[in-house]
Amino acid sequence: MKNIAIFASGNGSNAENIINFFADTNKISIKLILSNKKDAFVVERAKKHNIECVIIEKKQFLEENYVVNILKAKKIDTIVLAGFLLLIPKCLVSAYSGKIINIHPALLPKYGGKGMYGMNVHKAVIENSEKQSGITIHNVNEEYDKGEIIFSAACDITPDDTPDSLAAKVHELEYKYFPAVIEKWLENKSLKDY
Ligand code: GRF
Repeated sequence: MKNIAIFASGNGSNAENIINFFADTNKISIKLILSNKKDAFVVERAKKHNIECVIIEKKQFLEENYVVNILKAKKIDTIVLAGFLLLIPKCLVSAYSGKIINIHPALLPKYGGKGMYGMNVHKAVIENSEKQSGITIHNVNEEYDKGEIIFSAACDITPDDTPDSLAAKVHELEYKYFPAVIEKWLENKSLKDY
């Protein structure tokens, strides 16, 4: 059994999609939701699914080993970032080296880095008249959106697309692929067929 902690700062629709995807398996358990925002909707989603939710202030999050100790106590093997806005500190990256995965709502390496999250990404993509955007799922290191890419999927952008309509297209890709990619990644299986 692999125990997963999902880190999320906002709405948590990806978190809930992952929870639902793994609900019927006994190989993977979503053990914990960690959020840095006590009012984030992901907290409600955790309650609805009876999943323990921990709220961490930024100061604690940056404190050496504070989060690592919580995760180790709960026997967490793997961390999934699903709309989590804080940079993962060094001690957490090294304690969970190769075991932290993130989804980014654009085709990295473009439109990544500090400040490039949520609608900021989609606005920038539309402003630059890109023909495509998509999702990138990647390993997490100490820099925003710079870890090794595990998987990406693209969608076309049409002239009538707005940041909102693009966000909807990207969310569809996220719901379709993220849980299945997590599953394959945990099993060390090839992602070629996705
Ligand atoms: C998603 O677009 C994800 O790619 C990004 O943050 C957004 C989170 O959306 N990292 P939600 O909270 O899962 O609805």
